[in-house]
Amino acid sequence: MRVAIIGQGYVGLTIAVGAAGAGHTVIGFDVNKTLVDQLNQGHSHIEGISDSAIIGFIGNGTYKASSDPSVLEGAEVIVIAVPTPLDEKRNPDLSFVHDAAELIAKNVKTSALIVNESTSYPGTLRKEIAARITGVDHLFASSPERVDPGNTEWGTKNTPRLIGGLTSAAVAKARDFYASFCDSIIEVSSPEVAEAAKIFENTFRQVNIALVNEFAQISDALGISSREVIEAAATKPYGFMEFKPGPGVGGHCIPVDPSYLAHVANEVGVPATFIKRANEVNLAMPAYVVKRVVAANGGSIAGKSVIVVGVAYKADVADTRETPASAVIDMLREQGAIVMWHDDLVGNWRGESSAPLVAHEIAVVVTRHDGVSDAAIKASKYVFDCTGTVPGVDGI
Ligand SMILES: NC(=O)c1ccc[n+]([C@@H]2O[C@H](COP(=O)([O-])OP(=O)(O)OC[C@H]3O[C@@H](n4cnc5c(N)ncnc54)[C@H](O)[C@@H]3O)[C@@H](O)[C@H]2O)c1
Repeated sequence: MRVAIIGQGYVGLTIAVGAAGAGHTVIGFDVNKTLVDQLNQGHSHIEGISDSAIIGFIGNGTYKASSDPSVLEGAEVIVIAVPTPLDEKRNPDLSFVHDAAELIAKNVKTSALIVNESTSYPGTLRKEIAARITGVDHLFASSPERVDPGNTEWGTKNTPRLIGGLTSAAVAKARDFYASFCDSIIEVSSPEVAEAAKIFENTFRQVNIALVNEFAQISDALGISSREVIEAAATKPYGFMEFKPGPGVGGHCIPVDPSYLAHVANEVGVPATFIKRANEVNLAMPAYVVKRVVAANGGSIAGKSVIVVGVAYKADVADTRETPASAVIDMLREQGAIVMWHDDLVGNWRGESSAPLVAHEIAVVVTRHDGVSDAAIKASKYVFDCTGTVPGVDGI
């Protein structure tokens, strides 16, 4: 099939590679011209997708990036994979989705299957996308992306794929397309069910992470290790699922998607109390981390040198979106500490560069990438570990 993918970020490029690998002819469309040029020169910007994979697909004619919207015309399948962030009031910002729909409406005059993979609230495909693309007899389906960047066990191929369509013809066409590179396709009765399933999955994680973060604070006050308790609880073979405490939640999904659900809940007059409370608990974790560090250092860290280890939002990725490291660093600086950070995967961030991981008075481990040794972390006099991976030090 001739496939066009709108957005060549984490999700769009991952799908592009999956589809090109299945032998489809893929156009990766993105408004970011620099990114398009980089991709066409064979440079991947996503961990887990190698330059050589991109070069191979360009070489055999199954992949090309473009910033020219006229390439969308004639595609049999068009996938939308654009950002769905929150605005300054933490309400859904669907402007990228609307732009993508308008691009299709303007440029595509031949009937196609249009699939939305961007995460959004139930009703997005029907009301925010299909309603804006009129005059051509397109098929519309929702297939929310579940990719977990950096996860080597679960990828596009073996993660079951949900599909909900506006018509049964749309579902059948979407099944044909995704079955060519995904092992398991699960059809649901409507796009709204598929959309809601995705945000409910992430809300489930957000609420459980908040619960375990609150529990970590209770445990510490009781003088017991939350991690030992969680490990003990996880020996129960049924009815318990292990979540681990940390410095907060980051990335494009867990801190954002639940607010999409809260937004529609509010519209239909049902209070989303768990989401609200989970947000509060998770957003307060950086302050808790800094409070513990200050308390363990005699009540003041003014003038002390601190290295924050790992600023990406999770291990083994270079993504700093919504990372709790940002608030941890700001709050350490508000306490008068001299703060540097070390993260070779991230390199440059917020106008600063990664510092070498050498001995400081204090080390705060926010994210632990593979290859960062215990010895390098423990070179600092006092270590506070938010990851539970450095043996024999203070932490959550
Ligand atoms: N990153 C993840 O782990 C993940 C996982 C599952 C779902 N999602 C969801 O998938 C969607 C995309 O996320 P992402 O992480 O790939 O975002 P991203 O920021 O990595 O990439 C989005 C890309 O879309 C491009 N873009 C924006 N507007 C465009 C337009 N009108 N036309 C063409 N290109 C446009 C941007 O330039 C960017 O390259 C979001 O809804 C997100 O919530 C992300």
